[in-house]
Amino acid sequence: MKQAAREARARERPIGFVPTMGALHEGHFSLVRAARRDCSPVVASIFVNPKQFGPSEDFQKYPRPMEADSAALEALGVDYLFAPSPKEMYPDGYATSVAVEGLGDRLEGRSRPGHFRGVSTVVLKLFEIVQPRFAYFGRKDAQQVRVLRQMATDLNLDTQVVVCPIVREADGLALSSRNAYLKPDERRAATALYRALEAVRREIAAGERDAVRLSVALRRALESEPLVALDYAEIVDAETLEPVLRLRRSCLILLAAFVGATRLIDNALVEEEGDSFRVSL
Ligand code: PAJ
Repeated sequence: MKQAAREARARERPIGFVPTMGALHEGHFSLVRAARRDCSPVVASIFVNPKQFGPSEDFQKYPRPMEADSAALEALGVDYLFAPSPKEMYPDGYATSVAVEGLGDRLEGRSRPGHFRGVSTVVLKLFEIVQPRFAYFGRKDAQQVRVLRQMATDLNLDTQVVVCPIVREADGLALSSRNAYLKPDERRAATALYRALEAVRREIAAGERDAVRLSVALRRALESEPLVALDYAEIVDAETLEPVLRLRRSCLILLAAFVGATRLIDNALVEEEGDSFRVSL
């Protein structure tokens, strides 16, 4: 892959990169399409990264439909698929990791200790191997994007992190490889995350600016669904990821919840526009 990237850099437009863990869906495909618009060649990776899973998480059972994934990427015009094995990425004696302190320690990082250390470590390795000018990530994982942007800035990386919108099902559920775990009744209940974000959007449209009251509306909407167990629901500054008391410039409403045994996340971006706020789900 390094050799191919070196050759491509010498002769083509900038390399665009879409890192994934596979079990691909429209969310991933939207990133590929964005990369294809700006870049050539486009490289995608599929690597279920053991370092970003906790000991009691779903690393073993994470879906790995490699043939279908690679056919889908080819049909979308991806030029290279990089799909290393865990041994290639982390050979015996592997010893180095990258941690984005602070940003990587709260919210997802608090519920999943070591998660972002695993993410930033693998993404830095992938960037070094693929040497992309632009790398495409979904706002579905808003904290991941914020952590990786900080890493790119702090380590003077040549790769620019590009953020793409959340792709949702018709009923609002954000696409996720983990949705495949949901039983039919859980699948129905899982829309509660989206419905909670919608409820907050309505409150904001009606003029509510107080983050504490908005959080109450958020939690109430989630708790009305018996199959859903809230992990966290917070309204934070989009830059610092610190909780805010009132809406300001740019905030994120971040949610994580268990639906049955499946842990899902979702979020909305709230941006100040003159006297009002635009809420993007
Ligand atoms: P994975 O969960 O496979 O997601 C790969 C990329 O697809 C991420 O940037 C994620 O935000 C994006 N994505 C997932 N669902 C999406 C949706 N519904 N709409 C838009 N984008 C979506 O995120 C990871 O893998 C890993 O942490 C990785 C970055 C590959 C490092 O291992």
